[in-house]
Amino acid sequence: MCGIFAYLNYRVPRTRKEIFETLVKGLQRLEYRGYDSAGIAVDRPNATTTDKTNGICLIKKKGKVKALDEELYKRDSLDLDEKLCTHFGLAHTRWATHGEPSAVNSHPQRSDKDNEFVVIHNGIITNYKELKAYLINKGYEFESETDTEVIPKLIKYVYDNRESDSITFSTLVERVIKQLEGAFALVFKSRHFPGEAVSTRRGSPLLIGVRSEHELATENIPVQYNSAHIKDGVQDKNSHNSSNGLNSVEGDRAVEYYFASDASAIIEHTNKVLYLEDDDVAVVTEGKLSIHRMNRQAGEDSVRAIQTLQMEMQQIMKGNFDAFMQKEIFEQPESVVNTMRGRICFDTNTVVLGGLKDHLKEIKRCRRLIMIGCGTSFHAAVATRQILEELTELPVMVELASDFLDRNTPVFRDDVCFFISQSGETADTLMALRYCKERGALTVGITNTVGSSICRETDCGVHINAGPEIGVASTKAYTSQFVSLIMFALMLSEDRLSLQTRRLDIINGLKVLPELIKKVLSLDEKIKAIANELYKQRSLLVMGRGFNYATCLEGALKIKEITYMHSEGILAGELKHGPLALIDKHMPVIMIIMRDACYIKCQNALQQVTARSGRPIILCCQDDPEVTKNAYQTIELPHIVDCLQGILTVIPLQLLSFHLAVLRGYDVDCPRNLAKSVTVE
Ligand code: F6R
Repeated sequence: MCGIFAYLNYRVPRTRKEIFETLVKGLQRLEYRGYDSAGIAVDRPNATTTDKTNGICLIKKKGKVKALDEELYKRDSLDLDEKLCTHFGLAHTRWATHGEPSAVNSHPQRSDKDNEFVVIHNGIITNYKELKAYLINKGYEFESETDTEVIPKLIKYVYDNRESDSITFSTLVERVIKQLEGAFALVFKSRHFPGEAVSTRRGSPLLIGVRSEHELATENIPVQYNSAHIKDGVQDKNSHNSSNGLNSVEGDRAVEYYFASDASAIIEHTNKVLYLEDDDVAVVTEGKLSIHRMNRQAGEDSVRAIQTLQMEMQQIMKGNFDAFMQKEIFEQPESVVNTMRGRICFDTNTVVLGGLKDHLKEIKRCRRLIMIGCGTSFHAAVATRQILEELTELPVMVELASDFLDRNTPVFRDDVCFFISQSGETADTLMALRYCKERGALTVGITNTVGSSICRETDCGVHINAGPEIGVASTKAYTSQFVSLIMFALMLSEDRLSLQTRRLDIINGLKVLPELIKKVLSLDEKIKAIANELYKQRSLLVMGRGFNYATCLEGALKIKEITYMHSEGILAGELKHGPLALIDKHMPVIMIIMRDACYIKCQNALQQVTARSGRPIILCCQDDPEVTKNAYQTIELPHIVDCLQGILTVIPLQLLSFHLAVLRGYDVDCPRNLAKSVTVE
């Protein structure tokens, strides 16, 4: 959903070539967020911090970051060896929302032909039509179809109408964001404020990495408020006059700043990061970072902590794999261990989720659990609903965030609402969270991204610890969400005597899960051979029921999103109510028939399919001649306790979708029209 990256070097001499490389590398790390066009803004040659006559150069290109990278080196007018002691560069990779993918619609967007102000944006400005009409009326000319373009035009308008020449860059930005509605993460650059960076966010993620030799540069940053005032009984201690900010970095100290939509673009430069809050305006002037806000609200933190990222470089590299998705599928034996690490004690059969333990009483007393997510994250809720109902003995609703909001679903103070999201930034899920919070429900985040909006806005939560997921198609996050929700059910049922045998079976299942995942992964060659038979087909149905219904939905989603084949996940119980009409000898159908409570019913569905000349590919347990005799092909899987079986049945479908996409010649990690983090409604 658009990736933002910006780099400021203060008193750190860098050649223009090095700056290009940093910007392009940052974009490559963020490319999964959008990849239909890309652009950068840098100073023209010989621009200095004092010379305001030189301006900003924009280079934008339709297509992937690679196309932009090639374009940069075609510009003879840009002296690649020029040393820039202090410089601020912007970069952006786009996922189109308003206006087709094209150079003019890509970012940075600009205020005017002289590029007085340029901006990169992730999010959506919902009142852009009104702002555009106003600015056109004032004589400003627009060149793109984007919503973003109102932002640089608006800042120029505020600048052109400033009451004093001493107005600061951050004041201009504060005035601009007051007029904006919607979601945004923004980074601004201006020829009027050379070497200065201003960034802000509301609803879209943005973090700042700091690299400095100087230790104090990585202390907490106090927030500066625009005027001393008392609001809601909170005395504003950090009024504008206090000399706050990263003033511990002396004027002559070298420092570098990296602004990015997520940490994967920053980690190779520094592990010291600061996450901005909504409506923070972060300013770097003469190498000093400060955070400004309009007003202090009750209960608000008056510092922004510089945190240390735990992520490692190798986690975001492809290694020996052809695609991130493939790497992430094969990481699952370790990622599920990381999800369980320190939480399950296999000696005492106890489960403790540290992020929830203080809320346990409240959760046990609740009226119902509501599990909310989108796409794959929603499927994780579907996959675990039955065991949650069984072990918690509470009603469990599973909800697609968008539909939940469309229905204005009643939510009460004694509800506990779970928000499941790999990125922690999905707009629909985030809005559903705010909706539930307003109604007084306890909110629980199940996320993979530390510091994400959902992480920060929920009352408590579980970090799934799957490690960075870069492939747009979610794989290891799904299995880790699955395991996290199972652990929650186990934790809640710890004191239920009647459930102890069941709990023990599940805990034993979790113990052997990583080894069984490895066994499933060893079927890769067989699955590839099946993909070879199927890749020219137009459709592929996936059918099952009970604990494996979610696998059908998730498998079909994987297939459609990266292979562009039509694929449908069908509840086998619904077969005779419609989908059976699709079955004939030409329609490929995958059936999941495991030895669980639905085994006999699934066999009935199999009979109905074979009676219509269907040729099913069956995912089944090892040594099941009854099932395999009716199969066109079989994928035999290790057996595990029923409620965990969905983890082992989904992996063959992840692998199948991967091989199908490769055979069909598609870019597995960057499926068309999609983006990893969907920060618009
Ligand atoms: C599918 C996929 C999407 C996401 C959905 C929610 O492979 O990745 O369906 O699951 O966009 O994203 P998160 O989990 O980040 O909220």
